[in-house]
Amino acid sequence: MDSKLVASTVKVDVEGLKQAFKNLYGVDPLLVRSPGRINIIGEHTDYNEGFVMPAAIDKAIYIGISKREDDQVHLFAKDYEQTHTVALSALAPCEKGWPNYILGVADQLQKRGYILGGFNLYIDGDVPLGAGLSSSAAVECATAYALDQLFSLSVAQLDLALIAQKAEHVFAGVSCGIMDQFASVFGKKDHAILLDCRSMEYEYLPLDLGDYKLLLLNTNVKHSLSDSAYNERRSQCEQGVAWVKEKFPEVNSLRDVTLAMLEECVEPKDNNVFVKCRFVVAEIERLGRAADFLKQGKLDALGKLMLETHDGLSKDYEVSCSELDFLVDRVRDLDAVLGARMMGGGFGGCTINIVKTAYIDELIKTVSAGYLQEFGLKLDAYVVETASGTSQIIEF
Ligand code: GLA
Repeated sequence: MDSKLVASTVKVDVEGLKQAFKNLYGVDPLLVRSPGRINIIGEHTDYNEGFVMPAAIDKAIYIGISKREDDQVHLFAKDYEQTHTVALSALAPCEKGWPNYILGVADQLQKRGYILGGFNLYIDGDVPLGAGLSSSAAVECATAYALDQLFSLSVAQLDLALIAQKAEHVFAGVSCGIMDQFASVFGKKDHAILLDCRSMEYEYLPLDLGDYKLLLLNTNVKHSLSDSAYNERRSQCEQGVAWVKEKFPEVNSLRDVTLAMLEECVEPKDNNVFVKCRFVVAEIERLGRAADFLKQGKLDALGKLMLETHDGLSKDYEVSCSELDFLVDRVRDLDAVLGARMMGGGFGGCTINIVKTAYIDELIKTVSAGYLQEFGLKLDAYVVETASGTSQIIEF
């Protein structure tokens, strides 16, 4: 990979990061940036071999990295003002949490036979944590790319994303799909990515929103059941596939399943599993229509599908929460809003909204006031632009 970004085009204080690194470790770092992501539509479809439509955003994780003489790994996280030290030969998940996204990647690289040496790493960024914008995937992808560059590993771009995903499974305990890591690595400015999570083929779709912009409303909550419920949904989907497979052995994932198959093989066995699988089958089909609408510039029709997705995630898949539902309900009938829905794994984080640019300030003001009154919580709002994927930052 030779994607490089010139330091002066980066939003965070790269010079400050470099100086802080030098103060801490006494040498100059190699600098890497990896973005957070949004997802226009296609939720909980990635681990069912369906399609997703994410985009990388202009909020990113930044890493400074340098080699060490010994086999130690020294980490520093600016957000937590914490250090962590471990030997390369003793990588294991730790209680602190944040080092796992880095160590998990180093561990995966070693397991695949790549030879690493000790390294110093400093991490900073402006992806809000716990907001469903995949800050963890961004950390993993930044680490994978930084280690690849530092030790000249020549890891293929897709493998960087797959290694990052596996690190999340093993060191963070979340059986996530590939969407977040893929979007972070493969993002392209002004485009969404239409990714087939079965073949891993992808297409960049121009994201031309005209008078509209993407507005994220952050609930500022992350309910504690999010990780366990995510893994549970994944098992429910697998259970549904197993039951369909008894009658239709050629079926390998919900991508291959029709509503009629679910009604025949799953509904009589377990209504809850049936409803969960029905959502996924509908969402995969909905994404196909959404991609066509985006290509034709029919944002209005795309927005309506986003609302359908929200209702499915909330009522059928049951991964929403009262805060997310409130934010979508507040805007769904406004003329200035084409579409709105909860985004990502669920149980907190952000809603994604397509809002007329001229109306954004007013919307934020009104919805924030209502949100504060209802939940006693502050709402954060971000107008996001799309951005390019994981890259090295070079200076002149
Ligand atoms: C999380 C996971 C992704 C994806 C989404 C839901 O963000 O990390 O792999 O499954 O939830 O679409």
